[in-house]
Amino acid sequence: MAIVFKELTKNYGRIQAVRRLKGTVNKGIVGFLGPNGAGKTTTFKMIMGLIHPSSGSAEIFGHDIIKESILSRKNVGFLPERSFLFLDKTCWDFLKYSGKLAGIAGLDLNLCIKDALDSVGIVKKWWKKRLKVFSAGMRQRVGLAATIINPHNRLIILDEPTANLDPIGRQEVLDKIKALNKSKDLNVFMSSHILSEIEQVCSEILIIHEGEIVLSGKISELSKYFCKDQLKIKISNNELFLKELEKELNFTVEENDDFLLIKTENVSLLRQISSKIVNRCGLEILHMEEVSLNLNELFKKIVKK
Ligand SMILES: Nc1ncnc2c1ncn2[C@@H]1O[C@H](COP(=O)(O)OP(=O)(O)OP(=O)(O)O)[C@@H](O)[C@H]1O
Ligand SMILES: [Mg+2]
Repeated sequence: MAIVFKELTKNYGRIQAVRRLKGTVNKGIVGFLGPNGAGKTTTFKMIMGLIHPSSGSAEIFGHDIIKESILSRKNVGFLPERSFLFLDKTCWDFLKYSGKLAGIAGLDLNLCIKDALDSVGIVKKWWKKRLKVFSAGMRQRVGLAATIINPHNRLIILDEPTANLDPIGRQEVLDKIKALNKSKDLNVFMSSHILSEIEQVCSEILIIHEGEIVLSGKISELSKYFCKDQLKIKISNNELFLKELEKELNFTVEENDDFLLIKTENVSLLRQISSKIVNRCGLEILHMEEVSLNLNELFKKIVKK
């Protein structure tokens, strides 16, 4: 486990931004999802020691963030929500500064900078250019490079790494995150509003709403859990099929573009009965799939509770 939350709490006056957060962030790429104001940034800031928890604590790789403040964050990189780049500096100088801040000692800082820039795909001709001439996507990749400037980092925490980027810049950043996880065996804990991108890169998610974790687990398991009651079907004669189905099963149906979205308690029974009807009436199944809710729908469903 990368992080364990131990009733982590933050109040700003009367606002309970994070409420007794419990749960774990496993190794791999874990997504932190939640609407505006849910408490994601506040949680990250506490983990990174930028603000002090009101109560509770957390552990990073077994080290308590309060009692072992420095040790717990020694090998953790952080990309904040708002850009922290100095635009008048060159890319190289900015990373040199980041490396010094990260306390890289006993290692060749120049080699660390080269390696970090290579890893995020910033090619050499840009290294000595000022950051103000970089595109938003490139700047974000430089920010990502700063989180891995310490080659001993085991975890990087990214607060909305793709915010304000166009689709190409977004994809580039996501690809680099995936590649870092794979090639450097880095664990990633990242927040986002964009559910499709969390689905694309993360193996697990934590969903936070009003300062509390409302759901967590593997993406594949969660979507299965929420979707096992639906089948999307197209039959050569939908009308006849539904008439026959009504005789044998309780269900609700939505019709959309010749497809039937059938909800029932027991999908395997629905499959069996469907093939029986099709055989009996000489029909043909043109399409049949178990529908996975996408994360967006999943999220709406949970937050509505
Ligand atoms: N410095 C602060 N002083 C007072 N209230 C704050 C402060 N920082 C955050 N809050 C409040 O705490 C709650 C959680 O905010 P936070 O920024 O952690 O949410 P978030 O999930 O990161 O949202 P977003 O998706 O918009 O970035 C919100 O109600 C916010 O208004
Ligand atoms: Mg935030």
